[in-house]
Amino acid sequence: MQHHLIIALFGILLTASATGPSFSLPALPSLIASPKTPSLPFSPSAARNASKICVVDPDAADAGPALISAAHDCNNGGTVVLLPDTTYTIASPTDLTFLQSIDILILGTVVFSDDVEYWQTKAFGYAYQDSHLFWKFGGKDVNIYGLGIGTLDGLGQTWWTAKRSNESVYRPHLFGTDGLTGGSVSGLNMKNSPMWFNLIMNSGDVLITDINIWIEVTNSSSPPANTDGWDTYRSTNIVIQNSTISNDDGQYQGEYDIVEDVYVYNISMSNASDGARIKIWPGVPPNTTGSSSGGGAGYVRNITYELFNNTNNDWAIELTQCYFASSQEACKQYPAVLQIEDILFKDFYGTTSKKHDPQVGTLVCSDPSVCKNVRAENIAVSPPSAATAEWICTNMDEGLLDVNCVATT
Ligand SMILES: *[C@@H]1O[C@H](CO)[C@@H](O)[C@H](O)[C@H]1NC(C)=O
Ligand SMILES: *[C@@H]1O[C@H](CO)[C@@H](O)[C@H](O)[C@H]1NC(C)=O
Ligand SMILES: *[C@@H]1O[C@H](CO)[C@@H](O)[C@H](O)[C@H]1NC(C)=O
Ligand SMILES: *[C@@H]1O[C@H](CO)[C@@H](O)[C@H](O)[C@H]1NC(C)=O
Ligand SMILES: *[C@@H]1O[C@H](CO)[C@@H](O)[C@H](O)[C@H]1NC(C)=O
Ligand SMILES: *[C@@H]1O[C@H](CO)[C@@H](O)[C@H](O)[C@H]1NC(C)=O
Ligand SMILES: *[C@@H]1O[C@H](CO)[C@@H](O)[C@H](O)[C@H]1NC(C)=O
Ligand SMILES: *[C@@H]1O[C@H](CO)[C@@H](O)[C@H](O)[C@H]1NC(C)=O
Ligand SMILES: *[C@@H]1O[C@H](CO)[C@@H](O)[C@H](O)[C@H]1NC(C)=O
Repeated sequence: MQHHLIIALFGILLTASATGPSFSLPALPSLIASPKTPSLPFSPSAARNASKICVVDPDAADAGPALISAAHDCNNGGTVVLLPDTTYTIASPTDLTFLQSIDILILGTVVFSDDVEYWQTKAFGYAYQDSHLFWKFGGKDVNIYGLGIGTLDGLGQTWWTAKRSNESVYRPHLFGTDGLTGGSVSGLNMKNSPMWFNLIMNSGDVLITDINIWIEVTNSSSPPANTDGWDTYRSTNIVIQNSTISNDDGQYQGEYDIVEDVYVYNISMSNASDGARIKIWPGVPPNTTGSSSGGGAGYVRNITYELFNNTNNDWAIELTQCYFASSQEACKQYPAVLQIEDILFKDFYGTTSKKHDPQVGTLVCSDPSVCKNVRAENIAVSPPSAATAEWICTNMDEGLLDVNCVATT
């Protein structure tokens, strides 16, 4: 079947045809890591063949197989196109981990069937946090780009409602990579993820930029949960920049075995429980009903948060090594076996919420022996009242903290 369309995109008139040669491809914009550079420079993508274009069949009842087929046809130098003003519904698990030097241009909307029962057994499952994916991207040198137009829609409300009747229901993440090396993800709108928005796993050297994330709740009795912006797992040299996130959960969650060499720069955050947060469990699972979490080993090392604009967050910084501990005494009894080292909070400003006024931040370690070199410099965060800002500091080396510590044990 042949599909013709004419679209005006950034002022350029394009004529597209599924089979004909007349599609002039909107180019992948030049994407650079900026204003900071990655610790290892990214390799440039191999040259693409501008006439190797594979349009995903817009009439496929299930876009999954159509997308896989287009990706096979265009692998090694081509571009897969999802047409504008078109809704593609992915209704079966879609494995795109075979990719090699290929671009995927998403100009339409990709939705994922909200057949909750179907995905319970069919979604790709991972032991890590019981994660599930509708689709997964992997391979080498892959650029997935949406030019600010392409949209991924997780139909989250169905899943948030399902969670209300069954807490254990698996809710897939909206976007996932598994074994992706080199390339980029850019210019995409991501709305209403059932669970996290992005899971970057076993991946490296990926630039993620110009992403717009948001949620729309239509049933206030079934609010969203766990709609993290990005979670990374066993990945290295990942840059996430120039993006907006309007969601329900934190962006940088400390729930990993090793978190190392993270640089968080120039963030504005509003209306959240925490601005900068590092959360670690005590050395044994805490006494919470049914909890099997906590007590894992590892370390969090060389983390910098620099230039952080707080507006109405309950804590500007919350560092804890006593997550879910029943008390500081209980936490001290079982110090974390996940160590904290070389943390810097620098150039924080703004105003917190009223919640803990006049306290604006909390820095709590389980024991000094497992928590070293935590620094705070040039911290100018105020509570909404005129009072002097106060900080909770526990088991910290207060000489390294340029804050007004008031409560220590
Ligand atoms: C580019 O792709 C077109 C369409 O698939 C093909 O005919 C052509 O041979 C390719 N050019 C090169 C240099 O591979
Ligand atoms: C809740 O969902 C989980 C995961 O799909 C499933 O194993 C369990 O049977 C469900 N519980 C009920 C009561 O439906
Ligand atoms: C940031 O992303 C927006 C789109 O979300 C884009 O218009 C803008 O050019 C980007 N800015 C930079 C500096 O890349
Ligand atoms: C809204 O959420 C409540 C609580 O989960 C649920 O009972 C109700 O069926 C939902 N309404 C719709 C229209 O799905
Ligand atoms: C700390 O992490 C940064 C990346 O944020 C990296 O550039 C730097 O080399 C790391 N420092 C050490 C001592 O490994
Ligand atoms: C911080 O980000 C904002 C929003 O993108 C930008 O306008 C500003 O120039 C950035 N500041 C620095 C110092 O990088
Ligand atoms: C924070 O909450 C206020 C009051 O509800 C709202 O006006 C503002 O837009 C929110 N900020 C963001 C970034 O959503
Ligand atoms: C800090 O965040 C607030 C709320 O989003 C915003 O109005 C203000 O412009 C930001 N300040 C800077 C310097 O980016
Ligand atoms: C669990 O509860 C017991 C009894 O209250 C207490 O002795 C112990 O310290 C608690 N453990 C933790 C990790 O909170």
